[in-house]
Amino acid sequence: MRYDILTIFPEFFDSPFEGGILKKAVERGVIEINTHDIRSYATDKHRSVDDKPYGGGSGMVFKPEPLGKAIQAAKLGGVKSLVILTTPQGEVLTDKIVRELTGYDQLVIICGRYEGVDERVRKLHVDREISVGDYILSGGEYAACAIVDAVSRYVPGVLGNETSPYDDSFNNYLLEHQQYTRPEEYEGLGVPGILLSGNHGEIERWKRRESIERTYLRRPELLDRADLSVDDSIYLGELKKGHTNKFKLYIALVHYPVYNKDFKVITTAFTNLDVHDISRAARTYGVKGFYLIHPIEEQRSLVARVLRHWKEGPGRAHNPSRHEALELVRITNTLDEAMDRIEAIEGMRPKTVATDAGIRANTTGYAELKETMSSGDAPYLIIFGTGSGIAEEVISQSDFVLKPVHGQTSYNHLSVRSAAAIILDRLLRQ
Ligand SMILES: C[S@@+](CC[C@H](N)C(=O)[O-])C[C@H]1O[C@@H](n2cnc3c(N)ncnc32)[C@H](O)[C@@H]1O
Repeated sequence: MRYDILTIFPEFFDSPFEGGILKKAVERGVIEINTHDIRSYATDKHRSVDDKPYGGGSGMVFKPEPLGKAIQAAKLGGVKSLVILTTPQGEVLTDKIVRELTGYDQLVIICGRYEGVDERVRKLHVDREISVGDYILSGGEYAACAIVDAVSRYVPGVLGNETSPYDDSFNNYLLEHQQYTRPEEYEGLGVPGILLSGNHGEIERWKRRESIERTYLRRPELLDRADLSVDDSIYLGELKKGHTNKFKLYIALVHYPVYNKDFKVITTAFTNLDVHDISRAARTYGVKGFYLIHPIEEQRSLVARVLRHWKEGPGRAHNPSRHEALELVRITNTLDEAMDRIEAIEGMRPKTVATDAGIRANTTGYAELKETMSSGDAPYLIIFGTGSGIAEEVISQSDFVLKPVHGQTSYNHLSVRSAAAIILDRLLRQ
């Protein structure tokens, strides 16, 4: 693998590759790292490579001509070559991308500085744009080091025989298990007995399970792509039983005050499907309680009768898993009463989150709400509306209004059952 790094600070690279496995790999000729000074392609007497941005704004921008010439000069003919622009706006570097990059003979890496590079260079000369994370570095040199190091680990002959890049974290989308070395006891802490047992089969099984547990606890979203055996999945299921949802999340379905199609405040009737489907979604995602809010006594007792059928009556034997979901359902007269009950359970009044399909200002996104919920101890109550949506008087009193659910189109007329399931998945998915 040959790397050609385009930079205005070639001296930057004097030391990063002067130690460890990369130095040895260069010495053995397994990889080759060249740096090119973009300034040497400048044509004016000041050797300038940057200029002020058109349209104003802070900072300077890489001029297209010197950089374009530098790229063309660095790119080798007759080999599989890829021009990479380091930029915070690119694809975030992952193990999968790193492995894709090993498929080339030459990587030409452009290190940006200032405000970045002229857009026309990107359009004309760049094959792939890569970011090393959602933060801003002062220069692409740091990103180039990360790319060269990560890619080289997969180049045959770079790592010694005793190490394999395929054992590390992110391979098969799992984090690596915990590691120990001598001494057997350190400051009162020992080493897991299994690692000292000499039973290789059991040790491998332990490592696999530790790796699954670590991934589940630290980066659960990776598990979606991990290749898990039946045994792995059963183990993951056991882990989930032992871990309760860290959020104290409750949901409510409001039947009054809600709007009808003409935006008049009305009271809607209970819908059997809503009760069943939302409680099943709530049970799946670890919601602590599902409050049905209805001001009419006859409606409340009707639902209570339906619930008794599934929880205690013939329905329980007919469908044993259904009662588990319906156990979460509570029926109250008002939203305030539901909040009082949650306060009695949690010792704290819940923060309320209204949901609405319409366009409005100051809405909260799913990732942001998740972050807020993680940052404190408060219980949260997500409020869903029936009819044509929750009345403004409820929305305006909520602590948060969640952004409407949207897919890839502008259509978002979902049933409350679908919206509830999607919102729970966005907030509580594994
Ligand atoms: C100060 S940054 C320019 C940021 C640019 N104005 C923007 O907002 O997208 C200067 C250079 O550092 C490099 N850089 C900064 N952050 C990076 C990141 N997260 N990943 C990869 N390269 C980055 C790029 O080469 C970039 O051109």
